[in-house]
Amino acid sequence: MAGVLEVRDLSKSFDGIVVASHIDLTLKSGSIVGLIGPNGAGKTSLFNLISGVVKFDSGTVLLDGSPLDRLKFHQRVRGGLSRTWQHTRLFPSLPVIDNLLIATHDYPGERLVNVLFGRRRLKAHDSVARDKAVGILGKMGLANVADDLVSDLPYGQQKLVGVARALMGDAKCLLLDEPMAGVEGQAYAAMQRVVREVAESGVAVCVVEHNIAFIRDLCDEGVFMFSGAIMARGSVAELIRDPQLTELYFGH
Ligand SMILES: Nc1ncnc2c1ncn2[C@@H]1O[C@H](COP(=O)(O)OP(=O)(O)O)[C@@H](O)[C@H]1O
Ligand SMILES: [Mg+2]
Repeated sequence: MAGVLEVRDLSKSFDGIVVASHIDLTLKSGSIVGLIGPNGAGKTSLFNLISGVVKFDSGTVLLDGSPLDRLKFHQRVRGGLSRTWQHTRLFPSLPVIDNLLIATHDYPGERLVNVLFGRRRLKAHDSVARDKAVGILGKMGLANVADDLVSDLPYGQQKLVGVARALMGDAKCLLLDEPMAGVEGQAYAAMQRVVREVAESGVAVCVVEHNIAFIRDLCDEGVFMFSGAIMARGSVAELIRDPQLTELYFGH
C-alpha cells in the first residue's frame, strides 16, 4: 500500500555536515511510526525537510502521491501535512483558543507581525473554525482551559495545546517532535490517548521521542536514525534490544 507520505532518497547537508542521507520513509494511514536516535541524529531536521521549513538538496517528498518539493510550509499544512515543534512555539500571552484559531490562517503563525494581524482578523473569524477548535479542545480534555492564557498552563498541557493546534489543519499526516518531553501525570495519559485516536481516525503519524516506553506502547514500527541516516527499522522493542543501536544511542 502506498503511504500517505512518501519520503524518497532525501538528502541534505549544511556546509558539509550531512543532516539527512538518502532517507526513505513511508507513513501509512492509521499507522504510527516512532523515530528514535540520539540527540543530533537528524530527527528534527528530517521533520524540517518534510514540512518545508528547510529545503532539501535532493530526493522527493510525496503527500498522497503529489510532490511537495515546491510548496511552502503553510501550503503543505493546507494540503494536510501538520507538525508540532520540539519547543511548543505557542503564543504564551494569548488564550489557548486563539492559538488554535491562528493556525487556520495561511501562515505558520510564528512571527509576531503575523500574530498581530492575525489577532485582528480573529475577532471576525468564522464560527466554523471556533466550533472546530472547541471540539478539538474538548476531545483532548482541554475544554475548561480554552480561555486561559497558554502561559498559565502547566507545561504538559501546553504540549497538548501544540498537538491541538496541529489538528486544526485537517491533517492527513502528523509529525510529532518530542511530544512527551516535560509531560507527566494526567497530560501523559491524555497525550497517549490523543495520538492513538488521531491514528485510528486514519491519519499517518510519525513520532520523534526519547520516552521509549511511550513509543514502544504506541508505535507499529520503529526507525532508528544516527548521523543523518536510517540505521535500522523494526519494532521499537527490537530496536532497543539491539546492542549496537544501544551503543549508538547512549554512547553519544
Ligand atoms: N540550520 C542548520 N544549520 C547547520 N546545522 C544544522 C542546522 N539544523 C540542524 N543542524 C545540525 O544537524 C544535526 C542534526 O540536528 P537535529 O535534526 O536537531 O537532531 P535531533 O533532532 O535528532 O536531535 C546537528 O548536528 C545540528 O547541529
Ligand atoms: Mg530534535
